[in-house]
Amino acid sequence: MALLDRHAIIEKNATLLLAASLVVVSVGGIVEIAPLFYLENTIETVEGMRPYTPLELAGRDIFVREGCYVCHSQMIRPMRDEVERYGHYSLAAESMYDHPFQWGSKRTGPDLARVGGRYSDDWHVQHLTDPQSMVPESIMPPYGFLRDRQLDGRYIGDLMATHRAVGVPYTDEMIANARADFMAQIDPMSDGYDALEARYVVDPNPDDDIELRYTVKASNPDGQPGISEMDALVIYLQMLGTLVDFSTFTPDASR
Ligand code: HEC
Repeated sequence: MALLDRHAIIEKNATLLLAASLVVVSVGGIVEIAPLFYLENTIETVEGMRPYTPLELAGRDIFVREGCYVCHSQMIRPMRDEVERYGHYSLAAESMYDHPFQWGSKRTGPDLARVGGRYSDDWHVQHLTDPQSMVPESIMPPYGFLRDRQLDGRYIGDLMATHRAVGVPYTDEMIANARADFMAQIDPMSDGYDALEARYVVDPNPDDDIELRYTVKASNPDGQPGISEMDALVIYLQMLGTLVDFSTFTPDASR
């Protein structure tokens, strides 16, 4: 009981309690943080991860601007119920080019980390325009106005340069061709499409003509030219979670 008796001294002296708590918390903190300084990399390298294409990046900006992260997380935790519902748990590498990351903090709607390819482009356009027409009980707000807002990619090179400043490995060539790549992605038949694919797609599949495969042109119900914010957002959504090929991925057991 001697130890407990002495503990009473700390409990009765607020300053001492504060100082002792700081010591305890610091030890815990140092044990957690110090090893990180000695690791070369805390993110394992994963095949397939690449910086976002200009149009995906523009779509991501709309995702952030509209606050989609307020209702949707992008982080599948390694728990059975999540993995069964959403797919392979998220890897750190899958967020490595996200500035800021989009893990979210609350799931009013489902996690979106692997929503890419789950629905058709048209489904997304319809759902974003009028969520209740696809999921009657949905409380998601409509975003149909995105169809009427045109993007011309004027500032996309600047945006990419900004991302490069915080660590995304965009090359000079990617930035110089940003606007052309931005325009090319919406149309796989366009002249610039192959160049775009060569710049971004890691290890393109020779059997697949359209690797960055998107068919939607939401902006064009009546045939006007151009790319709408809706197109960019859907292109971003359709990419989410598809970059890493989990049929060949094996976690690095040494970590
Ligand atoms: C107020 C909360 C809220 C906001 C904000 C919100 N959503 Fe949702 N979202 C939901 C809910 C709830 C669902 C589930 C019902 C449904 O499918 O509509 C959902 C479903 C979805 C789905 C279908 C996911 C799946 O796996 O079935 C997508 C994709 C989606 N939202 C995208 C977005 C995007 C993009 C934005 C921003 C432009 C956004 N959401 C903003 C609440 C929200």
